[in-house]
Amino acid sequence: MKIAIIGQGYVGLTISAFASEYFDVIGFDSNQNIVDRLNRGISHIEGIESKSIQNLLKDGRYKATSSGSDIADVDIVVIAVPTPLTDNRQPDLTFIEKACKTIGEYITNPILVINESTSFPGTLRNFIKPAIEKYSRSPVNHLYAISPERVDPGREDFNQKNTPRLYAGLTPEASAKTKEFYSKFCDKLVEVSSPEVAEAAKLFENTFRQVNIALVNEFAQIAHSLGISVYETLDAASTKPYGFMKFTPSAGVGGHCIPVDPTYLAAVAEEHGAPATFIRRANEVNLQMSKYVVDRMQADNGGSLQGKSVLVVGVAYKPNVADVRETAAELVIKHLRERGAKVSWHDEVVGTWHGENSATLSGADIAVVITKHDAVNEPDILASAPYVFDTTGKVKGAIRL
Ligand SMILES: NC(=O)c1ccc[n+]([C@@H]2O[C@H](COP(=O)([O-])OP(=O)(O)OC[C@H]3O[C@@H](n4cnc5c(N)ncnc54)[C@H](O)[C@@H]3O)[C@@H](O)[C@H]2O)c1
Repeated sequence: MKIAIIGQGYVGLTISAFASEYFDVIGFDSNQNIVDRLNRGISHIEGIESKSIQNLLKDGRYKATSSGSDIADVDIVVIAVPTPLTDNRQPDLTFIEKACKTIGEYITNPILVINESTSFPGTLRNFIKPAIEKYSRSPVNHLYAISPERVDPGREDFNQKNTPRLYAGLTPEASAKTKEFYSKFCDKLVEVSSPEVAEAAKLFENTFRQVNIALVNEFAQIAHSLGISVYETLDAASTKPYGFMKFTPSAGVGGHCIPVDPTYLAAVAEEHGAPATFIRRANEVNLQMSKYVVDRMQADNGGSLQGKSVLVVGVAYKPNVADVRETAAELVIKHLRERGAKVSWHDEVVGTWHGENSATLSGADIAVVITKHDAVNEPDILASAPYVFDTTGKVKGAIRL
């Protein structure tokens, strides 16, 4: 069987690597630069080694392309394109629509179309299927299914093989074929009764995280105002063997999923007249953490950050990845600059960001740790400035949240 995977980013390339063990895979991406690099055997995703891409290319089991005609004869298409928010923070399905256009225009035989991109309930039924039919030159009866992606880039204990995968087809035949496809490289498949349940479950998983992170971020502020350690209190609460799950405070929540997916759920809720109070409030609390962090730093430094050199340590949204999408560092830097601080940042994993390069980890008046990569030593962080504020809870000896 021949599989096309539309979008060769974090999700699409990861799926390509696993599926290539069993199928011929065409990795379709609209970004020619990514396509060229992949065809030269260079991976741009943590967790997918360049060496494995090179092996797949050599064995003829994988090829990247930006040409729609290369996917004309596939048996299955998997959609793995971005689902961001618009400028006014509404769901943005334009990437999905473009993927549907490619499928509609180039695939004329009936095949199975699986969506892995995260979106609100009803996207497969009411958006993807009609869009592909709209762009198809002649009527074609594809099968449609959803299997929301749960990959956590950079994570080593859970991957495509051992993370249970939800799925549902629009028809029983679509469900059966979807199961057949994923069961080759995924140990546990969980069928749900409709695509809408699978779509909603994915959004709820990340909403659960967002709300709990907001709660612990709010609690960090309460604990500080009470003069007690948030970390010790969380450790104490964690000794309860049931009914408690530990989340840790931070400067905010970043990445492509947790700050974004809950807003998809809130948007669809409000469209249907249902409340999304927790979701909206959690988003606000997490966004406000950056200001709280800078307020704390300012209070500890004589009430003013004017003219002080501040080094932001770690600008990726989480440890050991180069991904800066929605990173809390962005807002922290904005608040610092608005208060007159001279800001530089250190992150060798990210390297270059917004046209600026990673600075050396030394010589600042103030350092603030937003993300601690494993490769960065605690003593080096502590030596980088006389005052070090740590939002990660990992740097012993620094001022903590
Ligand atoms: N990154 C994660 O950890 C993660 C986890 C679970 C789910 N998801 C979801 O998976 C989806 C993809 O996310 P990602 O992180 O892989 O995004 P990404 O930005 O890493 O990759 C998307 C790729 O799609 C390409 N692309 C965009 N439009 C295209 C089109 N019309 N045709 C072909 N290629 C196109 C881009 O060039 C890019 O290479 C999103 O819906 C996201 O919410 C992501």
